[in-house]
Amino acid sequence: MAEQSLRFPEGFLWGVASASHQCEGETTNNQWYAWQQAGHIKTGEQVGIACDWWRDAERDFASAHDMGLNALRLSLEWSRIEPRPGEWDDGAIARYRQMLTALRARGMTPLVTLHHFTHPQWFEARGGFLADDAVTRFAAYVAQVVPQLSDLCDFWCTINEPNVYATFGYTIGDFPPGHTGDLRGVIRAQAQMARAHAAAYAIIHQIQPNARVGVAQQLHTFDPARPRNPLDRLATRIQTTAFNDFFLDALISGQVAPIFRPLAGDLQAVRGTFDYFGFNTYARDLIRFDPGKWSEGFGHRTTAPGAWLGDPGTGGVYGEIYPQGIERFARDAARLGKPIYVTENGVADATDRLRPLILVTAARAMHAAIAAGADLRGYFHWSLIDNFEWAQGWSMRFGLIALDPTTQERTWRRSAHLYAAIARANALTPAMIAEYAPELMDGTELAAGG
Ligand code: BGC
Repeated sequence: MAEQSLRFPEGFLWGVASASHQCEGETTNNQWYAWQQAGHIKTGEQVGIACDWWRDAERDFASAHDMGLNALRLSLEWSRIEPRPGEWDDGAIARYRQMLTALRARGMTPLVTLHHFTHPQWFEARGGFLADDAVTRFAAYVAQVVPQLSDLCDFWCTINEPNVYATFGYTIGDFPPGHTGDLRGVIRAQAQMARAHAAAYAIIHQIQPNARVGVAQQLHTFDPARPRNPLDRLATRIQTTAFNDFFLDALISGQVAPIFRPLAGDLQAVRGTFDYFGFNTYARDLIRFDPGKWSEGFGHRTTAPGAWLGDPGTGGVYGEIYPQGIERFARDAARLGKPIYVTENGVADATDRLRPLILVTAARAMHAAIAAGADLRGYFHWSLIDNFEWAQGWSMRFGLIALDPTTQERTWRRSAHLYAAIARANALTPAMIAEYAPELMDGTELAAGG
């Protein structure tokens, strides 16, 4: 059957997402810089000037505008704004004002993240989010910056992916502080981040009663490897509860699963502190019960045969690329009765072999969710331009635009043209699919294994 054009609601946000440390360059006062200096970037690379945004983000904002995008998500670098405890750098705020002004002048809505994995090294040295006064410190930073930017932004994301921050920092060890198997740390860090978020939520609303404030939680699709096997289903449930649900449970109900409560403490104050539901989603794992993997919730992670796999970083691929997950998560979030945004989605794909397929599949998934009643209002592709992928350095390329970090030369990938076409039309049309993703014509889905 011939496919129809899929139109999106008027005012739908077609955006891109980014983060300060990955794009600005010379972020030398945060814990990730210290981590790099200690030799933990697996490729041995340096963040350097990254995409040179501190000097000239406007060049790439102009490209986003040329692409027809109407939104851009960026983060503030706390380590620039508060270089030493209680000392504020007005020049840093002035630069962020310029950047937000440049976006607004182009008719683009900024979504500003207050914490995207990085914070000042002095905050890390005191214990990061595990320090007794972490919530107070974060709140002081928020109280300082928000009034100075509130005429330019009313759409805030307090914290990016507390679950990824905590899992990679406390159990896997690829992120600072580099603990492994520290299950206590992973719970306590997320509980403290939930309290820090709730404090920020209250502060922002005091300053801007009409602000839209939320988080960007990473939601990973977990499916049982053998769908009817009760033990695979149980292990899948454990993964979902531990990774996807902990922070959201705190946000939605102020209560986490009973097993986590002794470590998490009282989270009642966090309940209901979100004006929209923001999620980042990338990948899927199939879970097979494995009694030997008790520390990973008895789940052995596998990838479906024939699955779409992005480019491997130094430690392999990030899992099966699964934009189809957007529909499931958005439909599930509809019960919350709040606007929903996909705050990140994308793929590491230097040669752009998969990205067009992912954009088409993501657009279809979003359209299906909206048709089923989800109040989904925007999509932020990760990312506008190749940027510094944390411990994977420059080895994973997520940009619609390719960047040569040495020459700073920029080249639009084909998918940038596809995304531009979708954003300009506020629709996905059969002609776009025929031109950019012919494999997916007439409603075809790529056999994503399983
Ligand atoms: C993070 C980004 C990261 C992206 C791709 C997300 O987990 O928020 O900072 O670059 O995924 O891995």
